[in-house]
Amino acid sequence: MKVVAAACLVCLLGLASAARDLGTRPNMAVNPTHVKLVNEDLRSTWKAGESAFFQDKTFEEAKAMMGTRLDGDHTSDPIMTFDHIDDGEIPTEFDARTNWPGLIHPIRNQERCGSCWAFGAVESLADRFAIATNATSPVLSPEDLVSCDELSLGCSGGLVNLAWRYLEKEGAVTEKCFEYMAGDGHVPPCYIKIHGRCDSAEPLVKYKSKNYYRLSTVEDIQKAIMTGGPVEAGFLVHQSFFAYQSGVYSRAWWDFSDLVAGGHAIKIIGWGVENKVPYWLIANSWGPAWGLDGYFKIKRGVNECFIEETVYGGDPDLNHLA
Ligand SMILES: *[C@@H]1O[C@H](CO)[C@@H](O)[C@H](O)[C@H]1NC(C)=O
Repeated sequence: MKVVAAACLVCLLGLASAARDLGTRPNMAVNPTHVKLVNEDLRSTWKAGESAFFQDKTFEEAKAMMGTRLDGDHTSDPIMTFDHIDDGEIPTEFDARTNWPGLIHPIRNQERCGSCWAFGAVESLADRFAIATNATSPVLSPEDLVSCDELSLGCSGGLVNLAWRYLEKEGAVTEKCFEYMAGDGHVPPCYIKIHGRCDSAEPLVKYKSKNYYRLSTVEDIQKAIMTGGPVEAGFLVHQSFFAYQSGVYSRAWWDFSDLVAGGHAIKIIGWGVENKVPYWLIANSWGPAWGLDGYFKIKRGVNECFIEETVYGGDPDLNHLA
Protein backbone atom coordinates (compact mmCIF):
# COMPACT_ATOMS: atom_id res chain seq x y z
CA MET A 1 0.00 0.00 0.00
CA LYS A 2 2.70 2.39 1.10
CA VAL A 3 4.68 1.81 -2.06
CA VAL A 4 1.65 2.48 -4.27
CA ALA A 5 0.81 5.65 -2.39
CA ALA A 6 4.38 6.88 -2.60
CA ALA A 7 4.57 6.06 -6.30
CA CYS A 8 1.35 7.95 -6.92
CA LEU A 9 2.58 10.97 -5.02
CA VAL A 10 5.71 10.98 -7.13
CA CYS A 11 3.77 10.69 -10.36
CA LEU A 12 1.42 13.48 -9.33
CA LEU A 13 4.32 15.76 -8.44
CA GLY A 14 5.95 14.83 -11.73
CA LEU A 15 2.82 15.72 -13.67
CA ALA A 16 2.46 19.00 -11.85
CA SER A 17 6.00 20.08 -12.57
CA ALA A 18 5.75 18.96 -16.20
CA ALA A 19 2.63 21.09 -16.54
CA ARG A 20 4.46 24.03 -14.99
CA ASP A 21 7.42 23.56 -17.31
CA LEU A 22 5.17 23.57 -20.34
CA GLY A 23 3.52 26.70 -19.03
CA THR A 24 0.16 24.96 -19.12
CA ARG A 25 -1.67 26.22 -16.08
CA PRO A 26 -4.47 27.87 -18.03
CA ASN A 27 -6.73 27.92 -15.05
CA MET A 28 -4.48 30.18 -12.96
CA ALA A 29 -5.13 33.95 -12.91
CA VAL A 30 -1.65 34.67 -14.26
CA ASN A 31 -0.88 32.35 -17.15
CA PRO A 32 2.91 31.84 -17.58
CA THR A 33 2.45 31.35 -21.33
CA HIS A 34 0.86 34.79 -21.54
CA VAL A 35 3.65 36.33 -19.47
CA LYS A 36 6.19 34.96 -21.93
CA LEU A 37 4.18 36.18 -24.93
CA VAL A 38 3.95 39.73 -23.58
CA ASN A 39 7.61 39.95 -22.56
CA GLU A 40 8.92 38.54 -25.83
CA ASP A 41 6.74 40.78 -28.01
CA LEU A 42 8.89 43.71 -29.15
CA ARG A 43 5.81 45.84 -29.77
CA SER A 44 4.57 45.36 -26.23
CA THR A 45 4.51 48.58 -24.20
CA TRP A 46 4.39 46.77 -20.85
CA LYS A 47 6.04 43.97 -18.86
CA ALA A 48 4.25 40.97 -17.40
CA GLY A 49 5.00 38.66 -14.49
CA GLU A 50 3.70 36.79 -11.49
CA SER A 51 2.56 38.65 -8.39
CA ALA A 52 1.98 37.58 -4.80
CA PHE A 53 -1.61 38.83 -5.08
CA PHE A 54 -2.55 36.34 -7.80
CA GLN A 55 -0.13 33.52 -6.99
CA ASP A 56 -2.77 31.39 -5.26
CA LYS A 57 -5.78 32.45 -7.34
CA THR A 58 -7.31 30.64 -10.28
CA PHE A 59 -8.72 32.55 -13.24
CA GLU A 60 -12.24 31.75 -11.97
CA GLU A 61 -11.43 33.15 -8.53
CA ALA A 62 -9.90 36.28 -10.03
CA LYS A 63 -12.97 36.67 -12.26
CA ALA A 64 -15.22 36.66 -9.20
CA MET A 65 -13.32 39.69 -7.91
CA MET A 66 -14.23 41.75 -10.98
CA GLY A 67 -17.14 43.33 -9.17
CA THR A 68 -18.02 46.26 -11.39
CA ARG A 69 -20.89 46.05 -13.81
CA LEU A 70 -20.25 48.17 -16.87
CA ASP A 71 -23.64 47.62 -18.49
CA GLY A 72 -25.54 50.01 -16.21
CA ASP A 73 -27.74 52.84 -17.43
CA HIS A 74 -25.76 56.09 -17.36
CA THR A 75 -28.22 58.19 -19.33
CA SER A 76 -29.77 59.92 -16.32
CA ASP A 77 -26.43 60.85 -14.72
CA PRO A 78 -25.39 64.51 -14.88
CA ILE A 79 -22.36 65.17 -17.10
CA MET A 80 -19.76 67.63 -15.84
CA THR A 81 -17.81 69.79 -18.27
CA PHE A 82 -14.93 72.17 -17.60
CA ASP A 83 -15.28 74.51 -20.58
CA HIS A 84 -13.94 77.41 -18.52
CA ILE A 85 -10.52 75.74 -18.54
CA ASP A 86 -8.71 75.93 -21.88
CA ASP A 87 -7.47 72.57 -23.20
CA GLY A 88 -4.05 74.24 -23.56
CA GLU A 89 -3.83 74.47 -19.77
CA ILE A 90 -3.79 70.69 -19.43
CA PRO A 91 -0.19 69.69 -18.61
CA THR A 92 1.52 66.84 -20.48
CA GLU A 93 2.08 65.02 -17.21
CA PHE A 94 0.14 65.13 -13.98
CA ASP A 95 0.47 63.09 -10.80
CA ALA A 96 -1.90 63.92 -7.93
CA ARG A 97 0.70 62.59 -5.46
CA THR A 98 3.27 65.22 -6.41
CA ASN A 99 0.72 67.95 -7.05
CA TRP A 100 -0.78 67.54 -3.57
CA PRO A 101 2.04 65.99 -1.48
CA GLY A 102 0.82 63.95 1.45
CA LEU A 103 -2.86 64.32 0.58
CA ILE A 104 -3.38 61.25 -1.62
CA HIS A 105 -4.24 58.15 0.38
CA PRO A 106 -2.11 54.99 0.14
CA ILE A 107 -2.90 51.87 -1.92
CA ARG A 108 -5.44 49.51 -0.37
CA ASN A 109 -6.31 45.83 -0.79
CA GLN A 110 -9.83 44.59 -1.53
CA GLU A 111 -8.64 40.97 -1.11
CA ARG A 112 -11.11 38.24 -2.12
CA CYS A 113 -14.21 40.38 -2.58
CA GLY A 114 -15.65 42.07 -5.66
CA SER A 115 -15.69 45.43 -3.88
CA CYS A 116 -13.53 47.48 -6.26
CA TRP A 117 -16.53 49.71 -7.03
CA ALA A 118 -16.64 50.74 -3.34
CA PHE A 119 -12.86 51.20 -3.00
CA GLY A 120 -12.59 53.39 -6.11
CA ALA A 121 -15.43 55.60 -4.88
CA VAL A 122 -14.41 56.17 -1.25
CA GLU A 123 -10.73 56.49 -2.13
CA SER A 124 -11.46 59.22 -4.68
CA LEU A 125 -13.78 61.04 -2.28
CA ALA A 126 -11.25 60.83 0.59
CA ASP A 127 -8.53 62.37 -1.62
CA ARG A 128 -10.97 65.05 -2.73
CA PHE A 129 -11.72 65.98 0.89
CA ALA A 130 -7.99 66.30 1.64
CA ILE A 131 -7.39 68.41 -1.48
CA ALA A 132 -10.40 70.70 -0.85
CA THR A 133 -9.28 71.38 2.72
CA ASN A 134 -5.52 71.24 2.01
CA ALA A 135 -5.15 68.95 5.01
CA THR A 136 -4.83 65.21 5.51
CA SER A 137 -8.22 63.49 5.69
CA PRO A 138 -9.24 60.17 7.20
CA VAL A 139 -9.34 56.97 5.17
CA LEU A 140 -13.00 56.34 4.28
CA SER A 141 -14.82 53.04 4.67
CA PRO A 142 -15.49 50.82 1.65
CA GLU A 143 -17.24 48.49 4.12
CA ASP A 144 -19.93 51.16 4.53
CA LEU A 145 -20.82 50.83 0.84
CA VAL A 146 -20.29 47.06 0.68
CA SER A 147 -22.50 46.37 3.72
CA CYS A 148 -24.99 49.25 3.62
CA ASP A 149 -25.63 50.30 0.00
CA GLU A 150 -28.79 48.37 -0.78
CA LEU A 151 -28.59 49.11 -4.51
CA SER A 152 -25.34 47.17 -4.79
CA LEU A 153 -24.48 43.52 -4.27
CA GLY A 154 -21.64 43.70 -1.76
CA CYS A 155 -18.77 41.40 -2.73
CA SER A 156 -20.73 40.27 -5.79
CA GLY A 157 -20.44 43.69 -7.35
CA GLY A 158 -21.71 47.18 -7.83
CA LEU A 159 -21.98 50.01 -10.30
CA VAL A 160 -19.78 53.08 -10.29
CA ASN A 161 -22.64 55.55 -10.66
CA LEU A 162 -24.70 53.90 -7.91
CA ALA A 163 -21.68 54.07 -5.56
CA TRP A 164 -21.52 57.83 -6.16
CA ARG A 165 -25.26 58.19 -5.70
CA TYR A 166 -24.80 56.53 -2.31
CA LEU A 167 -21.97 58.95 -1.43
CA GLU A 168 -24.24 61.86 -2.37
CA LYS A 169 -27.27 60.56 -0.47
CA GLU A 170 -25.72 58.82 2.56
CA GLY A 171 -22.00 59.58 2.53
CA ALA A 172 -19.34 57.21 3.87
CA VAL A 173 -18.09 56.86 7.43
CA THR A 174 -14.38 56.55 8.19
CA GLU A 175 -12.41 53.32 8.04
CA LYS A 176 -11.90 53.59 11.81
CA CYS A 177 -15.67 53.77 12.26
CA PHE A 178 -16.49 50.73 10.12
CA GLU A 179 -13.40 48.73 9.27
CA TYR A 180 -13.08 46.64 6.07
CA MET A 181 -14.03 43.07 6.94
CA ALA A 182 -15.35 41.69 3.64
CA GLY A 183 -11.88 40.70 2.38
CA ASP A 184 -12.66 37.01 2.83
CA GLY A 185 -15.71 37.38 0.58
CA HIS A 186 -18.29 37.47 3.37
CA VAL A 187 -20.24 40.69 3.80
CA PRO A 188 -20.99 41.63 7.42
CA PRO A 189 -24.32 43.32 8.27
CA CYS A 190 -24.55 47.12 8.13
CA TYR A 191 -23.40 47.78 11.71
CA ILE A 192 -23.72 51.57 11.53
CA LYS A 193 -27.35 51.38 10.44
CA ILE A 194 -28.36 48.63 12.86
CA HIS A 195 -26.72 50.25 15.90
CA GLY A 196 -26.71 53.92 14.87
CA ARG A 197 -23.06 54.22 15.84
CA CYS A 198 -19.58 53.16 14.76
CA ASP A 199 -18.30 49.62 15.15
CA SER A 200 -15.67 51.23 17.45
CA ALA A 201 -15.44 54.15 19.89
CA GLU A 202 -15.11 56.64 16.98
CA PRO A 203 -17.76 59.35 16.54
CA LEU A 204 -20.14 58.66 13.65
CA VAL A 205 -19.31 61.21 10.94
CA LYS A 206 -20.47 60.89 7.35
CA TYR A 207 -18.31 62.19 4.52
CA LYS A 208 -20.69 63.10 1.76
CA SER A 209 -20.36 64.20 -1.82
CA LYS A 210 -22.35 67.37 -2.65
CA ASN A 211 -23.12 65.95 -6.08
CA TYR A 212 -21.88 63.34 -8.46
CA TYR A 213 -21.24 63.49 -12.16
CA ARG A 214 -19.96 61.62 -15.17
CA LEU A 215 -16.93 62.83 -17.12
CA SER A 216 -17.46 62.08 -20.77
CA THR A 217 -14.33 63.30 -22.56
CA VAL A 218 -10.60 62.74 -22.06
CA GLU A 219 -10.10 66.48 -21.48
CA ASP A 220 -12.89 66.73 -18.91
CA ILE A 221 -11.45 63.73 -17.03
CA GLN A 222 -8.08 65.51 -16.94
CA LYS A 223 -9.55 68.86 -15.90
CA ALA A 224 -11.62 67.23 -13.16
CA ILE A 225 -8.49 65.55 -11.75
CA MET A 226 -6.21 68.62 -11.96
CA THR A 227 -8.78 70.85 -10.25
CA GLY A 228 -10.50 68.60 -7.72
CA GLY A 229 -8.44 65.41 -7.43
CA PRO A 230 -8.73 61.74 -8.39
CA VAL A 231 -11.85 60.23 -9.99
CA GLU A 232 -13.24 56.72 -10.19
CA ALA A 233 -13.42 54.75 -13.44
CA GLY A 234 -14.57 51.31 -14.48
CA PHE A 235 -12.94 49.25 -17.24
CA LEU A 236 -13.08 45.78 -18.76
CA VAL A 237 -10.35 43.45 -17.50
CA HIS A 238 -8.90 40.76 -19.75
CA GLN A 239 -6.73 38.02 -18.31
CA SER A 240 -3.45 39.62 -19.40
CA PHE A 241 -4.09 42.51 -17.00
CA PHE A 242 -3.61 40.27 -13.97
CA ALA A 243 0.02 39.83 -15.07
CA TYR A 244 0.77 43.57 -15.35
CA GLN A 245 4.04 44.64 -13.77
CA SER A 246 5.20 47.88 -15.39
CA GLY A 247 4.92 50.04 -18.50
CA VAL A 248 1.79 51.21 -20.28
CA TYR A 249 -0.81 48.44 -20.36
CA SER A 250 -2.89 47.70 -23.41
CA ARG A 251 -4.91 44.63 -24.12
CA ALA A 252 -2.92 41.77 -25.65
CA TRP A 253 -3.77 40.44 -29.12
CA TRP A 254 -4.61 37.01 -27.67
CA ASP A 255 -7.04 38.43 -25.10
CA PHE A 256 -10.09 36.99 -26.85
CA SER A 257 -13.56 37.00 -25.37
CA ASP A 258 -13.01 33.81 -23.38
CA LEU A 259 -10.32 35.66 -21.46
CA VAL A 260 -12.58 38.56 -20.45
CA ALA A 261 -12.54 38.61 -16.65
CA GLY A 262 -15.14 41.32 -16.04
CA GLY A 263 -15.55 44.93 -14.97
CA HIS A 264 -13.15 46.48 -12.49
CA ALA A 265 -13.19 49.91 -10.84
CA ILE A 266 -10.15 51.96 -9.90
CA LYS A 267 -8.99 55.51 -9.06
CA ILE A 268 -7.35 57.65 -11.77
CA ILE A 269 -4.76 59.96 -10.21
CA GLY A 270 -3.04 61.45 -13.25
CA TRP A 271 -1.58 60.92 -16.70
CA GLY A 272 1.61 61.17 -18.71
CA VAL A 273 3.49 59.93 -21.77
CA GLU A 274 5.99 57.05 -21.74
CA ASN A 275 8.06 56.19 -24.83
CA LYS A 276 5.61 58.35 -26.82
CA VAL A 277 2.59 56.39 -25.52
CA PRO A 278 0.04 58.54 -23.62
CA TYR A 279 -1.25 56.88 -20.45
CA TRP A 280 -3.54 57.25 -17.44
CA LEU A 281 -1.88 56.82 -14.04
CA ILE A 282 -4.10 54.70 -11.84
CA ALA A 283 -4.30 53.45 -8.26
CA ASN A 284 -5.50 49.85 -8.05
CA SER A 285 -6.85 48.15 -4.92
CA TRP A 286 -4.84 44.91 -5.08
CA GLY A 287 -2.29 45.92 -2.44
CA PRO A 288 1.11 47.65 -2.90
CA ALA A 289 2.86 44.45 -4.09
CA TRP A 290 0.91 44.27 -7.37
CA GLY A 291 1.96 46.26 -10.49
CA LEU A 292 3.97 49.44 -9.98
CA ASP A 293 3.78 49.52 -6.16
CA GLY A 294 0.02 49.06 -6.46
CA TYR A 295 -0.40 51.50 -9.38
CA PHE A 296 -0.56 50.93 -13.12
CA LYS A 297 -0.50 52.84 -16.39
CA ILE A 298 -2.94 52.18 -19.22
CA LYS A 299 -3.14 53.67 -22.72
CA ARG A 300 -4.91 57.04 -22.78
CA GLY A 301 -7.03 58.61 -25.50
CA VAL A 302 -8.17 55.41 -27.25
CA ASN A 303 -10.79 54.27 -24.71
CA GLU A 304 -8.58 51.26 -23.97
CA CYS A 305 -10.74 48.52 -22.38
CA PHE A 306 -13.52 51.18 -22.14
CA ILE A 307 -11.53 53.04 -19.45
CA GLU A 308 -12.85 56.42 -20.67
CA GLU A 309 -16.52 55.41 -20.70
CA THR A 310 -17.49 55.06 -17.04
CA VAL A 311 -15.68 57.86 -15.19
CA TYR A 312 -17.29 59.52 -12.16
CA GLY A 313 -16.44 62.08 -9.56
CA GLY A 314 -18.08 64.38 -7.06
CA ASP A 315 -17.33 67.42 -4.95
CA PRO A 316 -16.82 66.90 -1.21
CA ASP A 317 -19.49 68.37 1.03
CA LEU A 318 -17.32 70.32 3.46
CA ASN A 319 -20.29 71.21 5.67
CA HIS A 320 -20.36 67.61 6.76
CA LEU A 321 -16.83 67.65 8.13
CA ALA A 322 -16.66 67.07 11.86
C1 LIG B 1 -1.41 73.77 1.69
O1 LIG B 1 -0.72 73.43 2.87
C2 LIG B 1 0.69 73.43 2.72
C3 LIG B 1 1.31 72.85 3.98
O2 LIG B 1 0.62 73.21 5.12
C4 LIG B 1 1.16 74.83 2.38
O3 LIG B 1 2.56 74.85 2.24
C5 LIG B 1 0.48 75.28 1.09
O4 LIG B 1 0.84 76.60 0.80
C6 LIG B 1 -1.02 75.15 1.21
N1 LIG B 1 -1.61 75.37 -0.10
C7 LIG B 1 -2.64 76.14 -0.29
C8 LIG B 1 -3.14 76.26 -1.69
O5 LIG B 1 -3.18 76.77 0.61
